Amino acid sequence: MTYKFDTQCVHLGTHPDPETGALATPIYQTSTFAFRNADEGARRFQGEEDGYIYTRLGNPNHTAVEIKVAGLEGAEAGAAAASGMGAISAVLWTALKGGDHVLAGNSLYGCTYSLISHHFPHYGIESTFMDLTDLDAVRRAMKPNTKMIYCESPSNPTMAIADLEGLARIAHEGGAILVVDNTYCSPVVQRPIEFGADVVLHSATKYLNGHGDVIAGVAVGKRDFIEKLKMEGLKDMTGATLSPFDAYLLLRGMKTLHIRVPRHCETAMKVAQFLEKRPEVEHVWYPGLESFPQRELAAKQMKYFGAMIAIELKGGYEAGKRLINSTKLWTLAVSLGDAESLVQHPASMTHSALSDDELAAAGISKGLVRMSVGLEDPDDLIADLKQALEAQAVAGIRA
Ligand SMILES: Cc1ncc(COP(=O)(O)O)c(C=O)c1O
Repeated sequence: MTYKFDTQCVHLGTHPDPETGALATPIYQTSTFAFRNADEGARRFQGEEDGYIYTRLGNPNHTAVEIKVAGLEGAEAGAAAASGMGAISAVLWTALKGGDHVLAGNSLYGCTYSLISHHFPHYGIESTFMDLTDLDAVRRAMKPNTKMIYCESPSNPTMAIADLEGLARIAHEGGAILVVDNTYCSPVVQRPIEFGADVVLHSATKYLNGHGDVIAGVAVGKRDFIEKLKMEGLKDMTGATLSPFDAYLLLRGMKTLHIRVPRHCETAMKVAQFLEKRPEVEHVWYPGLESFPQRELAAKQMKYFGAMIAIELKGGYEAGKRLINSTKLWTLAVSLGDAESLVQHPASMTHSALSDDELAAAGISKGLVRMSVGLEDPDDLIADLKQALEAQAVAGIRA
């Protein structure tokens, strides 16, 4: 029997330990696994028999995470990794080789952008960064050697929404795959495979774990690709193995994913509506607002509108800096998806690897402030922003 999404969050991938009955999955904190005899070891290495060999190649705590995330995303299989970047780099190295071309969204997480734009050229992998919201332009940018369209939706940090169904169609017509980084959403908000994506990536550090105490990543997709990813990208190329303890914490976090994420999103809507009315605020980008230009597309592919907000203050960078220096409850820190609300400045922090020209091309203004709405009471979060905006007005008058 296939259970509903909320039940899967709690149960998928886990079962009572057959020896002790322990209901929580034990932590298999081991590097290696003993074989009963030489033939068994040889069969496992040949792939003729299921079973564990060595934790870089697999571990029961990884298996539990992989089954749960794959199930929640509607994918055939999953691979756990030591970080979001571990999963992303392993997927890219597995799917691409010298001479290939990747078409990527122009606003992406800074390290993903650096990997594709700054490092891939050394290995003969070409890339084009573009506004993926214009499907006709995407179709025109496809080349005979384009093997992948890579996107985030909403994008980090500009909140641009990519039409996942449209991109998947264009990718498949051109013999390429669509890879979607779904970190900003989690499968509670958006399930890209339903729209044709081939691979879905997560920085599981964020909503999937949800408690800000783990660095982890997961990739899910078709079984053949995930097997290849495990044997090449993760085993040989990156070695980005998730520790069993972190896999255990991640599994624990995901049991409440379906309860946490809707609450994050509800509060984000209240915060966005508050900010939009403030005179100090030039613009608020939040897909749930009536003023959000791609609201209709967001509503088509997202079940909730997420809990990430981007704002620009009237005083630009200086005003943004004063705001993030003045909040008391919101923490000035990178990352997202934690229980604590976080605020940061992409141009000088998460996206500081981009030059001024690259920031401009990505549409990331110097004044943009990124907010990750946590699980505190919305009234407290709004009151803190109000005092920070008012403190800034006073500072502005004094300046
Ligand atoms: C959208 C997105 N993808 C990937 C990553 C990288 O994840 P990790 O820090 O777990 O390597 C991040 C990190 O902030 C992110 O925001």
